[in-house]
Amino acid sequence: MNIVYVKNNEQMSLMAADIIASSILHKPDAILGLATGSTPIETYALLVAKYKVGALDFSQVRTFNLDEYAGLAPDHEQSYRYFMNHHLFNHTNIAMENTHLPLGNTSDHEKQCAEYEKKIEAVGGIDLQLLGIGSNGHVGFNEPADVFYMKTNVQNLSAATLSDNKRFFKGENEVVPSSALTTGFGQIMAAKSVLLLAGNGKQEIVQKAFYGDVTPQIPASCLQFHHNCTVIAVR
Ligand code: PGA
Repeated sequence: MNIVYVKNNEQMSLMAADIIASSILHKPDAILGLATGSTPIETYALLVAKYKVGALDFSQVRTFNLDEYAGLAPDHEQSYRYFMNHHLFNHTNIAMENTHLPLGNTSDHEKQCAEYEKKIEAVGGIDLQLLGIGSNGHVGFNEPADVFYMKTNVQNLSAATLSDNKRFFKGENEVVPSSALTTGFGQIMAAKSVLLLAGNGKQEIVQKAFYGDVTPQIPASCLQFHHNCTVIAVR
């Protein structure tokens, strides 16, 4: 794997937006695996800016997000569908039917996971997978565990993740959902390339995940085995 150190979040986002843009320019119908969280927000804003000046065309791009909170409807302000529409999709010419996330508010989460997995398989997998990293080393919502989960699956969120993410749930009576649907390591490791962003504050977990043992207790460590993974990390 290739670890690139940058000075700050701004440099990280600029570099990430350039890599994503060049992958779309190279393959206009690229299949992007996308991530949510605070880390990629500026990268998405830069991609929108490139689109607005005519430097990028999303008309043929297809996207598959990593995850969605169980129980949240797509129009819930904390759902990841809402996040993606708000930060990226609504501001580009991407066709909404080409954007995919697991549905969080179905009655059968397992069935939804299986269907989502099939949808990604049907298009031949992800070209470029964008990832953040949780303070506990999770990617998507693949939490520390005894095994690496391969398929799209339902995960109970760890205490660390519930605590990290409660900052987004500020409304009265809003609580972080206790579980989520997430793509597993099968699709992530099969992606033709992976781009993981680790902004300021993630230095400690970057050390553990990419310089230590590969272990499902630090899920991101699995990426040490990816054949084409770039980490952009703030030093
Ligand atoms: P963050 O989350 O970007 O909000 O730090 C990253 C993640 O949990 O993957």
